[in-house]
Amino acid sequence: MLVLNEVRSGYASAPALHGVNLTITPGSRSVVLGRNGAGKSTLLKTIVGHLPLMSGRIELNGHAVDRLAPHERCRRGLAYVPQGRQIFGSLTVRANLEAGGYGAGLRRVQQAVDDVLDELPLLRTKLRDRGDSLSGGQQQILALGRALMTQPKTLLLDEPSEGIQPSLVTEIGDIVVRLNQDRGITVIMVEQNLDFAATVGDKAHIMEKGTIACSMPTSDFVADLALQHRFMGVGVAAD
Ligand SMILES: Nc1ncnc2c1ncn2[C@@H]1O[C@H](COP(=O)(O)OP(=O)(O)OP(=O)(O)O)[C@@H](O)[C@H]1O
Ligand SMILES: [Mg+2]
Repeated sequence: MLVLNEVRSGYASAPALHGVNLTITPGSRSVVLGRNGAGKSTLLKTIVGHLPLMSGRIELNGHAVDRLAPHERCRRGLAYVPQGRQIFGSLTVRANLEAGGYGAGLRRVQQAVDDVLDELPLLRTKLRDRGDSLSGGQQQILALGRALMTQPKTLLLDEPSEGIQPSLVTEIGDIVVRLNQDRGITVIMVEQNLDFAATVGDKAHIMEKGTIACSMPTSDFVADLALQHRFMGVGVAAD
């Protein structure tokens, strides 16, 4: 169970989360939705420890993790795929995967690479290629593979469909759902693409101005154009 209680965080110049309360149950698939600048990326960065907490509490399975360094949170089962992928373009695909293992202090890195390649066979054919020679979608799968190196229990993904061709968006969705169903990995995915979000996440958490404005089954949000208009600026306003 991941529990955020009155979480405030952000940047030196400006706080961006203003009291987030959120509970994520093990084995669930959640999506975080909201307009540009609502605080979605800040939320993920705060959970994994790339941004310090200003106040509040983050608990993972009953233990506070909000003072732990990112690699210590990783050891407790959190893994993160950042917005824009942030792979190492000048390194090979293999080296990118290895970086995910060494960065987390993993000992059996080659075994972990083999396990990731079994899960994501597309990467096996690209192992010697430079990261920046891959298409956007392939880079996203590489970033996912890098995150899987530590065998996470909870996977946080920030806009994995951004700038990616539709066929690979579908493939990434299939992979994420499979990881959840077959391996029991809890999924927390930030998205702007509502159709894609609905295929991956059962539960939607809607962010507005640095807080969670409401949570509901994703299907309810998809069916409600007035809510979409209000919180994402899409669809039409209801009278
Ligand atoms: N590095 C930064 N320094 C200062 N302020 C930032 C920084 N990154 C984001 N912000 C601000 O924090 C707020 C939340 O940004 P955040 O990136 O979390 O939004 P988001 O919901 O992920 O948006 P998007 O959909 O565009 O990715 C915004 O007001 C943004 O301008
Ligand atoms: Mg973002």
